[in-house]
Amino acid sequence: PVVKEIFGLANLEEIIRNNYGLRKVVVVAGDSEASPLVKRELGKAGAKALLHAMQGDDVVAVTGGTTLAEVAEQLTPPANISLKQSWFVPARGGLGESLEIQANTIASGMAKRVGAGYRLLHVPDLLGKDAYDSLVHDPNIHDIVDMIRQARIIVHGIGDAMQMARRRKLEQPVIEELQRDGALAESFGYYFNKDGVVVHKMLTLGLRLEDIMKADTVVGIAGGKDKAKAIHAVLKFGHEDILVVDEVAAVEIVREI
Ligand code: G3H
Repeated sequence: PVVKEIFGLANLEEIIRNNYGLRKVVVVAGDSEASPLVKRELGKAGAKALLHAMQGDDVVAVTGGTTLAEVAEQLTPPANISLKQSWFVPARGGLGESLEIQANTIASGMAKRVGAGYRLLHVPDLLGKDAYDSLVHDPNIHDIVDMIRQARIIVHGIGDAMQMARRRKLEQPVIEELQRDGALAESFGYYFNKDGVVVHKMLTLGLRLEDIMKADTVVGIAGGKDKAKAIHAVLKFGHEDILVVDEVAAVEIVREI
């Protein structure tokens, strides 16, 4: 509360932007975890940031999650450019989420809303090593994975590592390993420690870390006080360009600085 009184939203944005060297930070008033209305506003701000970054012939890779589902809901076709030549694709294959919040669902939903194209990546969840190796060589999968890896824009949610591990029903030994390795954040199916180092990867296809590093615009969208440590960890990874967060997360992030 003290930090909140001292810093208005614009100040929070500026402090976070400067500290992590980001291109743009948007802070939405309130707590998106406590209020569905605030979550909608977070989605709206995320949608606006995404449309602003688009040029009209982009490949946009998107992750799953409830926050990205809200971004998709809030997308409306932009007045100034046509997105007919743009493509929406999922960032990575199956991660164990329920259908409504899978990356495939969100990619197709976004594309339909703005009149863009989409391609889907049908990779089963919890791939074994053998299945993974043979899918990598399937020509159809290869095509779409190639397209994903060339995404100019990446839009992703950020989750608390333990919450995500449980939601995706990872096995107990894996959860214990994540705990031992100090995993704090999950994003794109990668788990990060407090220094932004990847300590675990889900075995699925799609964006590799090097693709995230070379993408032109990476947009992270997340809210809720409980996610502050996770957001901080992903910012430490150091490849974020635009961050859209709610006020309670922003206040906590500023405390961590
Ligand atoms: O990778 C992180 C999750 O997709 C975030 O999910 O938006 O439902 O919290 P959420």
